[in-house]
Amino acid sequence: MINFDQNATTPVDEEVLTELIRATRDFSGNSSSGHSLGTKAGKYLRECRERVAKILGASDPDEIVFTSGGTESDNAAVRGIAYAMREQHGRNEVITSAIEHRAVLSPCDWLREQGFKSTVLPVDRNGVVDMGAMRNTLGPKTALVSVMMANNEIGTIQPIAEISKLAHAVGARVHSDAVQAAGKLKVDVNELGVDSLSLSAHKFYGPKGVGVLYLRKGTPYQCFMLGGTHEGGKRAGTVPLPQIAALTKALEVSERKRLEHGAELQALRDQLVKEVLAKVPGSHLNGELALCTPNTASIRFDGVYGGHLLRRMDEAGILASAGSACMWEITKPSHVLTALGLNDEEGGGTIRFSLGYGNTAQEVTQVADILAKLVPEMRAQPVQK
Ligand SMILES: Cc1ncc(COP(=O)(O)O)c(C=O)c1O
Repeated sequence: MINFDQNATTPVDEEVLTELIRATRDFSGNSSSGHSLGTKAGKYLRECRERVAKILGASDPDEIVFTSGGTESDNAAVRGIAYAMREQHGRNEVITSAIEHRAVLSPCDWLREQGFKSTVLPVDRNGVVDMGAMRNTLGPKTALVSVMMANNEIGTIQPIAEISKLAHAVGARVHSDAVQAAGKLKVDVNELGVDSLSLSAHKFYGPKGVGVLYLRKGTPYQCFMLGGTHEGGKRAGTVPLPQIAALTKALEVSERKRLEHGAELQALRDQLVKEVLAKVPGSHLNGELALCTPNTASIRFDGVYGGHLLRRMDEAGILASAGSACMWEITKPSHVLTALGLNDEEGGGTIRFSLGYGNTAQEVTQVADILAKLVPEMRAQPVQK
């Protein structure tokens, strides 16, 4: 099986799995309990928080809030910061981009129902947010700007540091969904200048169901998860220490992989694009590689239905994706591809290839060769949706 669908999720790294098992065995206490078993767990939780803060360049470990994943972190940040900004500063406008994950777009839609003005900015053909429109939209009523660091479908990297400067100049706060950035790009909250940021362990060789919300000290924030006072009152619920220990290890392991093998990953992705475009007539790259995360390539095939091609690829032992993973059965092109200006046919014929650190050059050539056979075969057949 060749796994070129690693933006959907990554396999758990062996070191991470060992840490998950070890922490499950060694820390059976509740980190909130005052007795010896609880304080032992609490001490390790603190250590994990410090290690995560160090990798993200956060000044204070208390700025790290552990959550159940990217979706929760995005919801918590978008809703929590916007609500608090309205309450404390009378600001009631949020700005986001057309290619955000639904984990950001849906909370922005929800805020609109709660009386906020929510503006969705367009992107260019490469998926970069329109900065002219950003400047025109920012104003004294802006509570929050939420723009992802890297896109899940085409990999476009956004100018977050510049967005932070512009937004802060008008007194607004900035959130960035960095779920697809960790392990592929350097994620430093101070270089980015963000007030909050989301991560999800299963996108960087950790387990599913655990994530990070970075929340800069002093950022107005209303906690939506009501209950106990865990995580400094920013996220109620018994803290899943084994998963957090695994997330911490995964962040360290993926950062090491990025530094040691990031260039190789990018070379593999570039080789894939080169071979596919050369071997499959009527194939085109969406976006521009120089603007993308090093592992992602979005390629469209003329005259082919992507869902159909994916099934044939799966039968041939290749995993990839059309649109985003959660949209496997949806026949309309994703909102991301539409926002790039692709029509139904172009979007419908698009496949996302997302590589990981375990992939090889042999796999790349194998995939290009199989596509060179499958695509013309499918063009010759009536489309079966
Ligand atoms: C950019 C982006 N944001 C958020 C999420 C949601 O993260 P999770 O699966 O941890 O809820 C994903 C997952 O696909 C993603 O790619």
